[in-house]
Amino acid sequence: MELKLNLGAKESSGKELVIVSAFQKKTEAKGKKKEATTEVVSSHWAKEFKTSFDAQKSSKLFKAGKGENYFFALADGREVMVIGLGDKKDLELESLRKTFANIYKAINKKYTNVSVELDGFVKGSHNAETLQAIAESLYLTSYSFDKYLSAKTKTALEVVTFDSAEKKTAAKKLEAALNEAKTVTAAINYARDLVNEPPNVLRSTEYSKRIKADVAKLKGVKCKVLGKKELEKEKMGLFLSVNSGSGFEPQLVHLTYTPAKATKNTKHIALVGKGLVFDTGGYSLKPGGSMMNMKFDMAGSATVYAAFRAAAELGLNVKITCILGITDNAVNSFATMPDSIVHGRNGKSVEILNTDAEGRLVLADCLDYACDQNPDAIIDAATLTGAVLVALGSEICGLMGNDDKLQDKLIASAKATDEYMWKLPVIKEFGDDIKSNCADLRNIGKSSFGGSAKAASFLGEFVKNDIPWAHLDIAGIGDSQGHLPYCPAKGASGLIVRTLVDFLKNS
Ligand code: BES
Ligand code: ZN
Ligand code: ZN
Repeated sequence: MELKLNLGAKESSGKELVIVSAFQKKTEAKGKKKEATTEVVSSHWAKEFKTSFDAQKSSKLFKAGKGENYFFALADGREVMVIGLGDKKDLELESLRKTFANIYKAINKKYTNVSVELDGFVKGSHNAETLQAIAESLYLTSYSFDKYLSAKTKTALEVVTFDSAEKKTAAKKLEAALNEAKTVTAAINYARDLVNEPPNVLRSTEYSKRIKADVAKLKGVKCKVLGKKELEKEKMGLFLSVNSGSGFEPQLVHLTYTPAKATKNTKHIALVGKGLVFDTGGYSLKPGGSMMNMKFDMAGSATVYAAFRAAAELGLNVKITCILGITDNAVNSFATMPDSIVHGRNGKSVEILNTDAEGRLVLADCLDYACDQNPDAIIDAATLTGAVLVALGSEICGLMGNDDKLQDKLIASAKATDEYMWKLPVIKEFGDDIKSNCADLRNIGKSSFGGSAKAASFLGEFVKNDIPWAHLDIAGIGDSQGHLPYCPAKGASGLIVRTLVDFLKNS
C-alpha cells in the first residue's frame, strides 16, 4: 500500500472511493419554542458530494456521531464514505488512529484506489501531526504475519491519496510527516516480524544475522557481534549463565549510530534490549501454559532495535549505542542450577535462586557494558516480569529507573505519541530484599510482592558512574494489544517504539 500526498487539490483524486469527515453540532433546547438540534457539519465537502448526499433519503438518519459511517454513490460511479467524528472539539489524534484502523479494515479488501479529504480531519491547525497519525495507523493496521499460512492475507488496497487544498509551499512539512510515519512504522513492522518469528527459526545466531544484514543499508551505523568467546573475554558471567543450557551461541549485538553533524556536544543515548529468543525458565521450568508464547521474550530487543533503525533512517541528530543481549533460556545438563553463584561483568556475585529470572542476568552484563560506552543516559526495554501485568494491567508499560528527569522525559514522549506508560517506585527497601547472605545479590526478591520494581532494583546494581538510566518493562504490552485496532489482536504489538523515537528526537 502506497500513501501519497496531493496538495493544492481542486477535486478528490480517489478513483473508486473518497473518504470525507463529518462532525456533529448539537444545540440545546432554549425556551419553549426552540427544540434541541443535531446538525451534521460537512465543511470540507465538494458541492457535488453535498448534492448527492442530500438526495439520499437515508442520509437524514446520519448524525455524524463518533463511529457512525455513511456510504453513498456519486453520479460518476465513485463512492463516498462519510466518517462521523462527533463533536469537533473532542477530536484527538489517537481517536483518528483508531478510526482509520477501522476504516482500513472496512475498505482494504474491496477498493484499490481511494482518497482522503485530509483538511476535514485536521485537529486544530495541526495538519502535519494529523497526517502523520493517520498514516501511522494505516501502515500499522496493514501489517499481517502470514508467512507460515498457506492462505495469505489478501488485500486490494494499493493507493491512498491525501488530498488537501493546502498550498504546495506546505509540502515540505507534510511530506516530512508522511515520511516519518512511513519510516517509523516500517521499523515497527520489522520488529513485529522478529517477535512473531517462531523460536525454531529465530535462533540467537539467526537473529544477530538478520540485524547485521538489516543495518547494512543505514548511514552512519556500525555493527559488532560478540559471541561466546568474546563474552567470556568480557567476563559476562551472568549473561553466559543464562546461555549455559543452550545448544546455541549467545550473541551480543553492539550497534552505534553517529549522526552526520555529530560534535562533542551531541547527546549520546544507549538503548539496551532483552533478547531472549525463547524462555523455558531453565531448571526453574515454566509450566506449559506459561511457557507458551515465550518466543516474544525478545520483544525488548526488537523494540530498541526498531527505535534505533528509525532514528538512523531519519538521520536524527543524536548519537545512539544499541546493545541487544540475545540467547535462549534452555535446559540441558550444563544449564545453570538454582543455588549457583555467578559473577557479573562488574565483579558482583549473584546467587541465582530462580533460573526463570534470567532477563535481569542478561541485562545486568549488558548494562555494565553499555556504561563503558559513556552515554549521557541509558534506556533498557525488556519483557522482564509477569508482575508488571499484576501491577499495571496488560495495556501499560512499566517505567522504573534512577533518575526522575529522564523518566519524566519518557513519560512526556509516551504522552506525545499516545502510548501508556506509568512510573513504579524503586525504593531502598527493595535493594535490601535482593541482598543474599552468601553472595552480593540474589536474582529474586525474598517475597514475590513488588516483583517488577525489585527486578529494576537488581538492574540498578549494574548501572555505574551515576549514569541516568530508565527501565521499561514491556511484558504486558509487548503483544496481543487487541484494544488498539491498529495492533493485531494476537501477536507482537510494536508498542513503545514511537515513544522512544520521540524521546530520541528530543534528546
Ligand atoms: N520472561 C519472563 C517475564 C514474563 C512473564 C513476560 C509473563 C511475560 C509474561 C521472565 O523471564 C520471568 O520469567 N520472570 C519471572 C520472574 C520471577 C521468577 C521472579 C516471573 O515474572 O514470573
Ligand atoms: Zn524467565
Ligand atoms: Zn524471560
